[in-house]
Amino acid sequence: MEFLTEHKGREAEIIDLFTLAFTVSEGEEEGELIGKLVRNLLDGTAEKDLFVFTADEDGTVIGGIIFSRLTYEQDERILFILAPVAVAPHQQRKGIGQRLLTHGLAALRRAGVDIVITYGDPSYYAKVGFVPISEADAQAPMPLSRPEGWLGQSLTHRAMAPLKGPSRCVEALNNPVFW
Ligand SMILES: CC(C)(COP(=O)(O)OP(=O)(O)OC[C@H]1O[C@@H](n2cnc3c(N)ncnc32)[C@H](O)[C@@H]1OP(=O)(O)O)[C@@H](O)C(=O)NCCC(=O)NCCS
Repeated sequence: MEFLTEHKGREAEIIDLFTLAFTVSEGEEEGELIGKLVRNLLDGTAEKDLFVFTADEDGTVIGGIIFSRLTYEQDERILFILAPVAVAPHQQRKGIGQRLLTHGLAALRRAGVDIVITYGDPSYYAKVGFVPISEADAQAPMPLSRPEGWLGQSLTHRAMAPLKGPSRCVEALNNPVFW
């Protein structure tokens, strides 16, 4: 297995992986929704606002994670939000997701990112260093339907919270359906 950062020219394969993983775990409607989200993230986000990492085996994408910029207008630190994450159904529970996340987080740290936020299953993301954060300490771009899933981690020695001011996500995520 190898980790790749370049997604140009491989968009269709990456979108298909996310669509399949979410269709199998959450149903067809969710699969389609996340597939469209990934398309919009890849096609509609400025390069400086996006990190895409894939796990590949024998030339096939078997895992993917996407980070996009999250801006707190009154905070000078550099933040990205991790969403979504997927591993091909027949490759799950072999540690690929965790290895890919560890790889991606290390790459963002090297790139000078201060904080990574995510929104998902606290017990899954705790395995790679995420801890719960309150909306008082880090306002979400939109009202959260599952505040217990609002998670973050500092990639520096500095404490994560509090983050100042309202936050803004990239256009692809700017839809209440994802929050
Ligand atoms: C969630 C997902 C990315 C995990 O990938 P993975 O490669 O299977 O994960 P790992 O093998 O690294 O799992 C690490 C740990 O997470 C837990 N875990 C993994 N998949 C899980 C699942 N579907 N439900 C609950 N816990 C899970 C396990 O406890 C596992 O530890 P273990 O090996 O001690 O059991 C993958 O199941 C997936 O693509 N699911 C569908 C899409 C999705 O839900 N994405 C996450 C929301 S954005």
